[in-house]
Amino acid sequence: MRICMIGTGYVGLVTGCGLAEFGMKVTCVDKVAEKIEMLEQGELPIYEPGLKDLVEKNVKEGRLRFSTDIPEAIRNSLVIFLAVGTPSDDDGGADLSYLFNAVDEIAENLNGYKVVAIKSTVPVGTAKQVSQRVVSLARNVAFDVVSNPEFLREGSAVEDFLHPDRVVIGTESEQAVAIMKDIYSPLYLIETPFVITNNETAEMIKYASNTFLAAKISYINEVANICEIVGADVHVVARAMGLDGRISRKFLHPGPGFGGSCFPKDTRALYHLAKEKGYDPALIGSVIQVNENQKRRMVEKIQRMVGGNLAGKVIGVLGVSFKPNTDDIRESPAIFVIRNLLKAGASVKVFDPAAMEEAGKVFDNTIAYANNAYEVAEGADAIVLMTEWNQFRRLDLQELKNRMRSPVFVDTRNVYDPQKMKQAGFFYEGVGR
Ligand code: UDX
Repeated sequence: MRICMIGTGYVGLVTGCGLAEFGMKVTCVDKVAEKIEMLEQGELPIYEPGLKDLVEKNVKEGRLRFSTDIPEAIRNSLVIFLAVGTPSDDDGGADLSYLFNAVDEIAENLNGYKVVAIKSTVPVGTAKQVSQRVVSLARNVAFDVVSNPEFLREGSAVEDFLHPDRVVIGTESEQAVAIMKDIYSPLYLIETPFVITNNETAEMIKYASNTFLAAKISYINEVANICEIVGADVHVVARAMGLDGRISRKFLHPGPGFGGSCFPKDTRALYHLAKEKGYDPALIGSVIQVNENQKRRMVEKIQRMVGGNLAGKVIGVLGVSFKPNTDDIRESPAIFVIRNLLKAGASVKVFDPAAMEEAGKVFDNTIAYANNAYEVAEGADAIVLMTEWNQFRRLDLQELKNRMRSPVFVDTRNVYDPQKMKQAGFFYEGVGR
């Protein structure tokens, strides 16, 4: 079966490559010619563990190709996946302009029955709008619009695609269901649960899942903040909570707040959608507010740890990406923290194993860039661990301390043991401990 994947970000590339791995013939297309040129030379525009090998293998075996000729790819495919960006717009809703531009190109090239599968995260009701838009542009041509949301985590997207917890398919067309089941048959055969429902429900499943995960994070961050006041250890609290099967121990790691291209965007989009429809989503509003406050608390924590005034201080930052194993810094808490450190008159030096180039695009020469964690410590009044990269888990503490101006360590990911840090002579503070 021939598939056209519109969009070559981490969702489009991973899904396109994964479907090729399942035996489909996939053409990944993108408007940005440079991206396609990179991909045709075997280079990836994103950093995603395991993806490069999988792309190489499927290109070599002739199941995966890249092209900028979107109309030709649409005409030659039975299923067209939409995996374009749906960024937040100014008032928090989702900007669907990229999606509708792609839909218009599909409508212009409907040379027979096709399934239009929306992989991008879109507000509830978008599939209906897409269907109406195609009908208005392409008179009486048969097609179906399927909502097929993804649950990929950056840094483990390949694994998450090949071994998903569930496949969600939203459509009211039996024919489209059959085609989608055929596409995902390798998963069907290993008993991956399929949730077959209508478009609106499938769209809502994605938002409800992501905002719930974001709520878990804001919840444990709030508990961590209370733990700091009452002298409890949030890690022991989280571990004991997680032993309750109804809670599960996942996504109960306190930190500087959630970032990335999904949680912040999806929580805002669901909040905005509910408000627009006349419902006040108080809980989702709090999830967003707690997250914003958490980033601010990190700046206050750093300021307190360096004696109350950041002006003239040198702060070393370990990690800029929003999570380990990715170079993605979109809405990373580190960006907020660094911006506010600079605003308070501190100077900042950063090191990140993968996101230095991305950090340079945001901060240019307003911060210094180190080649490793020890260079970050040179003359620093404090070190702030923002992203729990494995490279930061076993640092030589004496080496760090010898290079620093004052041995202050703010650990926003609780990577280190407070007792050990104190024994090593650091003024140490984590989150919730
Ligand atoms: C998320 C969802 O997990 C995924 O299912 C969805 O498809 C896309 O959005 P992603 O944003 O890539 O994936 O990363 P994730 O691992 O979920 O982390 C998101 C943010 O939450 C990161 O900033 C991470 O540091 C933070 N986080 C995560 C915590 O602070 N605590 C946790 O316990 C887990």
